[in-house]
Amino acid sequence: MAKDPPPKKPLRSANSYGKLDRDGFVHRSWIKATGLPDHVFDGRPIIGIANTWSELVTCQVGLRDLAGFVKRGVWEAGGVPIEFPAMSLPETQMRPTAMLFRNLLAMEVEESIRANPIDGVVLMGACDKTTPGLLMGAASVDLPAIFVSGGPMLNGKFEGRDIGSGTDVWRFSEAVRAGEMSLDDFMRAESGMSRSAGSCNTMGTASTMASLTEALGISLPMNAALPAVDSRRKVLAHLSGNRIVQLVKDDVKPSDILTRQAFENAILMHAALGGSTNAVVHLLALAGRLGVPLTLKDFDEIARDAPLLVNLMPSGRYLMEEFCYAGGVPAVAKELGALYRRDAMTVSGKTQGEIADAARVLNSEVIGSLEAPIGPSSGVWVLKGNLCPQGAILKPSAATPALLTHRGKAVVFEDIEDYHARIDDPDLPADETSVLVLKGCGPRGYPGMPEVGNMGLPPKVLAKGVTDMVRISDARMSGTAYGTVILHVAPEAEAGGPLALVQTGDEIALDGPGRTLDLLVDEAELARRRAAWEAARPAPKYSRGWYKLYVDTVLQADQGVDLDFLVGKSSAEVTRESH
Ligand code: FES
Repeated sequence: MAKDPPPKKPLRSANSYGKLDRDGFVHRSWIKATGLPDHVFDGRPIIGIANTWSELVTCQVGLRDLAGFVKRGVWEAGGVPIEFPAMSLPETQMRPTAMLFRNLLAMEVEESIRANPIDGVVLMGACDKTTPGLLMGAASVDLPAIFVSGGPMLNGKFEGRDIGSGTDVWRFSEAVRAGEMSLDDFMRAESGMSRSAGSCNTMGTASTMASLTEALGISLPMNAALPAVDSRRKVLAHLSGNRIVQLVKDDVKPSDILTRQAFENAILMHAALGGSTNAVVHLLALAGRLGVPLTLKDFDEIARDAPLLVNLMPSGRYLMEEFCYAGGVPAVAKELGALYRRDAMTVSGKTQGEIADAARVLNSEVIGSLEAPIGPSSGVWVLKGNLCPQGAILKPSAATPALLTHRGKAVVFEDIEDYHARIDDPDLPADETSVLVLKGCGPRGYPGMPEVGNMGLPPKVLAKGVTDMVRISDARMSGTAYGTVILHVAPEAEAGGPLALVQTGDEIALDGPGRTLDLLVDEAELARRRAAWEAARPAPKYSRGWYKLYVDTVLQADQGVDLDFLVGKSSAEVTRESH
């Protein structure tokens, strides 16, 4: 039988496991005791599996079993799989917000990959922040890598109809507040929403980011949509194990895959999906790790001709199961046609064009076409103006069209506690024309930029049957949320952005089609307010630990909310022995 050609460059693991001396003894002896025989240290690639498995949330709970199938694939292809844990980041459980810890996961995984004797890595994540955190860390080391997602959970069910993760929680809770749904029904819906292992079943942040791993080319096709419990996901994990060994042999690194073209595909796919606004900060941060030039403006410009092609909640009607059965991301790529960067290479060994050519749409109600789209152009709109000099974003496909051009009086909440304390007050000076403004929820201010930007409406407005108002904040919003919600205002209030100066009663003008957001207060008055704001600044809140490091170094939303010293790569090189 013909022997495989040798790897393109010497394996990094040989520096630890290939030495016939005291150092080699130490490295081998302590790993052999995990159950590995002598003969596997014959120069085979050592493949790390960075696994965010945990029992803290259903999205990650299936990853331990799935890793077993990755291992089969690695063994079969002639590699040696070694699994290690990475921080779990359960979106619905962590306080004050999982986003505060995305960069901590990225640091953890970066140093775990670099410090250990591995030649390539399989990244296993499922929940919102695990995908970008794992990718950011791996990008900064730049060893061969492939992503395997945990897959979405089955469709939620309540009273005979499908219900979607998150999206229907927001809908039901508004219905309870408006007196249209009983608390008993609300509680019964809770058990039907999450019925299996897997990530949220809407096109929220987890599904968006999993879909973007395909568009970026860093996972195999269908990584996003195969349900967590579908046997074909096990096969995909196995094949990913095969591929990572080949990527090591061919020395194909993340920087070879995650090019500017790959990011352009991710932006196009994001628009076609009606994807989560959170993807904007994650892609900006990932591009920053790789040195790929990418700005907020690119999201608006690149995707302008890409209509909404996918009919999934929160922008549409269906859930991830239907998306899978309709053809998933490859079918969307096919429908994007000439807009898609077909030459972009992927970890599968095929170009994006080859993957798209092999796909087809199996249900045109779920995946539309450029000729018959599900909706109009639906990426994010990037707004600029004196209220957001470094930018803010708005997801038009989740907004009320009539509110996309609007002028109204601000009702200001200084922080989320102020919002909770006053939103139900019958005397709140708000009606349906008002603009709700929330401060103190940016990267530094909260800290961690939580998903609170889609703040609920005042009950007295809901009681009129009104379901949407213009809302503005320096926060993010859940990818499962909807509404005319302006997010990621930069600079944030805590960093001294003009948002800090808005007062109740000020007029605000939104011109969505013109991409502007302005506070209609004259310069002299703003200067007076700024001086008062500076004089009243409290002392810094955090004096130690991760919170302090984060608050002191985090970048604003338009730069991806990475820590300033983590931008860029450090390579996989470690020059010193440990003993
Ligand atoms: Fe983890 Fe939604 S809570 S994917």
